[in-house]
Amino acid sequence: MEMVETVSVMIPEERLLARVRELAEEITSDYAGCEELKLICILKGSVFFTTELAKRIDLPIKLDFMSVSSYGDDVESSGRVRIVKDLDETIRGQHVIVVEDIVDSGRTLAFLLEMLKSRQPESLALCTLLDKPSRRVTDVKVQYTGFEIPDEFVVGFGLDYAQKYRALPYIGKLSITEDVEVE
Ligand code: IMP
Ligand code: MG
Repeated sequence: MEMVETVSVMIPEERLLARVRELAEEITSDYAGCEELKLICILKGSVFFTTELAKRIDLPIKLDFMSVSSYGDDVESSGRVRIVKDLDETIRGQHVIVVEDIVDSGRTLAFLLEMLKSRQPESLALCTLLDKPSRRVTDVKVQYTGFEIPDEFVVGFGLDYAQKYRALPYIGKLSITEDVEVE
């Protein structure tokens, strides 16, 4: 059976960037006077969001990257998380914001935040572009949220389905349907 994937725009680029600007302004004022703020970009989904956000925060920014993989399929995470690429530098004593693409069940983030906390940063916050609160299984505190969205599978602006669609400039809803042959 041939499956057809279609993407329909859910959040257009202008709305995304306008919201990113607001989040950046909020962060700038919350961390006013902070000598250095470290953004941790969770690869690969947060790359687009992190760069747009970082450019708009009016504070000295450092970036570091981490890649984690949860044992599970593409659509559902299991909560058991493996570090594929760790941070290059220490976060001890630093002001840190973890930048995520989406919080779904919350399992990945709950694990990650505990692990980062044990490295003793001065402060640790979470900023996510998207949140699907209806899907939450594990409680995670999110300090900065771009958009709350319904329980739909979304792609674009960094988010993927089987590594595809990351480079779409908008957030789109992915639908997968059977290709019905017409005789
Ligand atoms: P959680 O541990 O269930 O919160 O999983 C979060 C991760 O699942 C995200 O970082 C994404 O990689 C992936 N994910 C969850 N929902 C979506 C979606 O709608 N589109 C693309 N990836 C998603
Ligand atoms: Mg992810």
